[in-house]
Amino acid sequence: MNKKNITLLLAGVAGLSLSGIAGAADRHTQTIAATCMTCHGPGGHSLGAAPSLAGLEKSYFVQTMKDFKSGARPASIMKRHASGYTEAEFEAMGAYFASLK
Ligand code: HEC
Repeated sequence: MNKKNITLLLAGVAGLSLSGIAGAADRHTQTIAATCMTCHGPGGHSLGAAPSLAGLEKSYFVQTMKDFKSGARPASIMKRHASGYTEAEFEAMGAYFASLK
């Protein structure tokens, strides 16, 4: 392996560990996500009352929460839940739920 390849390899390893940090949810995100799980099921896996959140595409999650908040997507209860959070929190929760398998 020549020098250039080693540099590329190291860059790749650094990139992986950085994305690992970005994927781990902070305490605030885990705390608010835990309130969602009372309805959406433990770990985001539905027990039947509300749809599963685990593994949802982040972009879909964020757009859906914005639509609940604005009223663009009609909902029984979710407008009230979405209204309490900022867009940054939608992004953080979206990354967290997408990471749950
Ligand atoms: C009181 C129960 C309850 C709580 C708490 C709750 N939800 Fe929901 N959620 C629902 C129900 C019921 C639906 C189905 C849509 C509707 O009728 O509002 C839903 C739908 C959703 C959807 C759409 C899923 C899809 O597949 O389109 C998302 C995303 C969502 N909720 C996210 C959240 C998040 C994030 C939280 C926490 C901040 C949360 N919910 C808290 C009951 C709840």
